[in-house]
Amino acid sequence: MRILVLGGTSFVGRAIAADALHSGAEVTLFNRGRTNLGLFPEARHLLGDRDTGDYTALREGDWDAVVDVSGFRPREVDQAMDALGDRVGRYLFVSSHAVYRRGGLAPHSDESAPLRAPLRDAEELTEATYGRLKVACEQDVTARYGDRATIVRPGKVAGPYDEGRGLTYWVRRAARGGRIALPARPEQPVQVVDSRDLARLVLRLLQDERPGAFHAVGPAEPTTLGGLIATCAEVAGSEIEIVPVPPETAPPPFFPLVRAERLWPGQQRDPALARAAGLPATPLTVTAADVLAWDRGRGEPPLGHGFTPEQEARILAETDGR
Ligand SMILES: NC(=O)c1ccc[n+]([C@@H]2O[C@H](COP(=O)([O-])OP(=O)(O)OC[C@H]3O[C@@H](n4cnc5c(N)ncnc54)[C@H](OP(=O)(O)O)[C@@H]3O)[C@@H](O)[C@H]2O)c1
Repeated sequence: MRILVLGGTSFVGRAIAADALHSGAEVTLFNRGRTNLGLFPEARHLLGDRDTGDYTALREGDWDAVVDVSGFRPREVDQAMDALGDRVGRYLFVSSHAVYRRGGLAPHSDESAPLRAPLRDAEELTEATYGRLKVACEQDVTARYGDRATIVRPGKVAGPYDEGRGLTYWVRRAARGGRIALPARPEQPVQVVDSRDLARLVLRLLQDERPGAFHAVGPAEPTTLGGLIATCAEVAGSEIEIVPVPPETAPPPFFPLVRAERLWPGQQRDPALARAAGLPATPLTVTAADVLAWDRGRGEPPLGHGFTPEQEARILAETDGR
C-alpha cells in the first residue's frame, strides 16, 4: 500500500508510520520537519505546515490511503482534503474518545454513544474545545469521503515515546518503589491502549477498507488505576504501597490517568468493534516493560507533571498526620 501520514514523527503517528513501514507499505510523511528530524530515512518526506495552510508539497502524487494524525481543527482537515481530493483512496482520521458527551454515559458504551456538539471556529485546544473540534473534523471527513472515511477514536495511548500525562509517570514512579501518593481512588477504572496496538488497528482498517468509527482502547484485561500501578511495580520488580491522598493535592490541570468520578464510564469503552477489526490486546505488563526500558534508555528526564519526589513526600507526611 502507498500510505501518506500527516504527522508521523512524535508518538502516535510514529507508531503508525513504523507499523506501516514494517508491513511493507510505501510510506510518505508530511510535516514541518521539526520533530525528530532524520527519523524513518526509508520513508519519503514532504514538508508543509498545517498552521499556515501550506499543503504545496501535496499537490502531486496519489496514495491508497492518508492517515491524518495531526488534524485537530476542521480548518486543517478541510485544507488537507482540498489539497488531496480523490488522489487518496481512503481518509483515516485519528480522532479521540473526547468526542463523546461528558457525564450521563453508560459504562461500556460503543461507538454509537452520543457525541458532543461540533465546534468549528475555535483555534485554542482546551478541555472545552478539543473534543468538539474533533467532532467537527470527523463530520467533515465523513461528509467528504463517505464509505472511504474511517475514524479511529483512541482512549489514552501509552507506549515508548509517550511524553504526555499518562502511563509514563506511573511506570517511572512504581519502579522507584516505596509509598506512592495517589490523588484518586485506587478502584478508578482506567483504559490505556498500547500505541503499537493502535497502529496495527489503523493498518488493518486500511488493508480491509473498513469505513466507520472504531474505538482504540485497551489494555488486554480491564484494570483499575490501583491495578495499573501494581502491574507497573511488578514489571519493575519493586515493592510499593499505594496511599490514597486528597484529590485537591494534585497539581493542575490534571494528574496522569486520574479522572473525576463522573468521568469513570468513559474509562470503560467497549473495544469489541475494533477487536473484531484486528485491534491486538497487548498485556499491560508488556506495555509497561517497554515504557520502562525506553524511559531509562533516555535517562528519565523531568516529566513536568505529576508529583515531584519532594511534593509527594510532603503530601504523604501531611496525610499520615491527619
Ligand atoms: N496521546 C493520546 O493519549 C491520544 C489520545 C487520543 C487521541 N490522540 C490523538 O493522536 C494524535 C497525536 O498524536 P502524536 O502527536 O503523537 O502524533 P505524531 O504524528 O507522532 O506527531 C505529531 C506530528 O505532527 C507534525 N506536526 C505538528 N504540527 C504540524 C504542523 N503545523 N503542520 C504539519 N505537521 C505538523 C509533527 O511534525 P513537525 O513538528 O516536524 O511538524 C509530528 O510529525 C492527535 O490526533 C490526538 O488527538 C492521542
